[in-house]
Amino acid sequence: MTTPINVKPLTLGVVGAGAMGRGIVQLFAQAGHRVRCFDAAPGAATKAVEFALGMIGRGVDKGRLSAEAFEAIRANVVACAGMGDLTGCDVVIEAIVEDLAVKRQLFGALEEVVAEDTVLASNTSSLTVADIAAACRHPARVAGLHFFNPVPLMKVAEVIAALRTSPQTVQTLSDLVNGAGHRAVVTADQPGFLVNHAGRGLYTEGLRVLEEQAASPADVDDVLREAVGFRMGPFELLDLTGLDVSSKVMASIYEQFQHEPRFRPSSLVAPRVAAGLFGRKTGEGWYTYEGDTRRAAPPRTVPPLSAGLSVWVDPQASGRAALAELMDSAGVALTDDAARADVCFVQPWGGDASHAAASLGLDATRTVALDPMVPLALRRTLMLTALTSAAARDSAWALLAADGVAVTVINDSPGFIAQRVLATIVNIAAQIAQRGIASVADIEDAVKLGLGYPHGPLAWGDRIGGARILEILRTLQAQTGDPRYRPSPWLVRRVALGVSLLTPEAARA
Ligand SMILES: NC(=O)c1ccc[n+]([C@@H]2O[C@H](COP(=O)([O-])OP(=O)(O)OC[C@H]3O[C@@H](n4cnc5c(N)ncnc54)[C@H](O)[C@@H]3O)[C@@H](O)[C@H]2O)c1
Repeated sequence: MTTPINVKPLTLGVVGAGAMGRGIVQLFAQAGHRVRCFDAAPGAATKAVEFALGMIGRGVDKGRLSAEAFEAIRANVVACAGMGDLTGCDVVIEAIVEDLAVKRQLFGALEEVVAEDTVLASNTSSLTVADIAAACRHPARVAGLHFFNPVPLMKVAEVIAALRTSPQTVQTLSDLVNGAGHRAVVTADQPGFLVNHAGRGLYTEGLRVLEEQAASPADVDDVLREAVGFRMGPFELLDLTGLDVSSKVMASIYEQFQHEPRFRPSSLVAPRVAAGLFGRKTGEGWYTYEGDTRRAAPPRTVPPLSAGLSVWVDPQASGRAALAELMDSAGVALTDDAARADVCFVQPWGGDASHAAASLGLDATRTVALDPMVPLALRRTLMLTALTSAAARDSAWALLAADGVAVTVINDSPGFIAQRVLATIVNIAAQIAQRGIASVADIEDAVKLGLGYPHGPLAWGDRIGGARILEILRTLQAQTGDPRYRPSPWLVRRVALGVSLLTPEAARA
């Protein structure tokens, strides 16, 4: 284990020795601090300390930690019999039950035992930190310190600056976290803080695609995993967390943001919660499970490629050359005559296939769309118009599957699946930056470390192109009439100026 850099060993109190508390004990004990753990339930603190030391001890077994270093850590970690043992702590981190009244009572009681300059931090995931701090005589030393589960492995923690939190308190907690090898990100005391705020888009937009009957949960998840690079799709994640838990988070963030349309929860959720379709824990959610294993859907049979097929591709389509190459190797003829083609391909950005067919004067029964955002080597999304015939669908599907790459066939959906989900995520991140909830660097790192996305959201927007993201959002807004897609001023201004979405305000007053 490494000694923390630039941080002198402190005496830390951890109150609440459950799933989070024991992880916090482990993290700071192995970083070389003196840790005192207290829990209201008899024996819980001792169990947590034993658990944390057991985890740290694995380092000795694996040869990563010397026996002497382990003994030094062991001597530094104690379970406390009472809160009075927290006198003399430099920082106390609370990780008790998520209940405002109970937390307020605890913070009031803590102030009676600790020094006036002891920093008090709450691991709350959803309460307003100012509400907890309001119970204290010295709210300047109170902040949020939000870890993720499991604490030692999730290498990010949000330092939440409530309105009365002092800069010194924020600095102390940030140094503490960074010194333990995690990344501290500083965020305003706003709903969902940073990570849970930035993570909204994947769920809300995935659910919207389903609401519109554009694609099944498995189709949405497959595309987002294989074509876009998420570790898990939204429905897989909802099944893992449990819809009983996630539905409350979705509703609470929407309420706390005063019914901001970007966070509007889906009406699909409540009936599923009522029916007990929580996910893995109940054996049934968006998917069905046998034990820990998800029951596989029967494979779809790809239709055969018909001989003599003639295909027209929109000359303006950004993927036209790649599509022509694919057709060439599949022995399919490319025609200039849309009126005679068996299938007409369009590649809209932000729009649906029906609008694209209508605007190009194409016969919608023979028109299909291919997502231009995803490279052809990855899972392809084939979108149908409201009128596409089964024959045109099957011909297009067979052609796209001819070289063995997986194909997802969806109904009309403005922005397919990948475009609309990614544009939503970028837009929410842009709005977090616009509102000054966190710095650009903190948004990017928090999303990568806290949500496991392959890129920070604003850098991801740059990769696709800020102007493209704006085009997708504006077209989505025009075709759906839904204000949830209205672009953030942060995005609009940077696109207007032709600069990266990562560009901070030059001199924010
Ligand atoms: N579990 C997660 O994934 C997660 C992630 C981030 C944040 N959080 C937040 O961390 C906090 C703790 O969550 P958890 O999952 O570890 O809960 P938990 O139920 O596993 O543990 C809570 C512990 O607090 C103790 N406790 C309750 N009231 C107390 C009091 N007044 N004084 C002292 N001890 C008390 C309980 O005995 C219990 O051991 C909550 O605020 C939660 O919202 C949880």
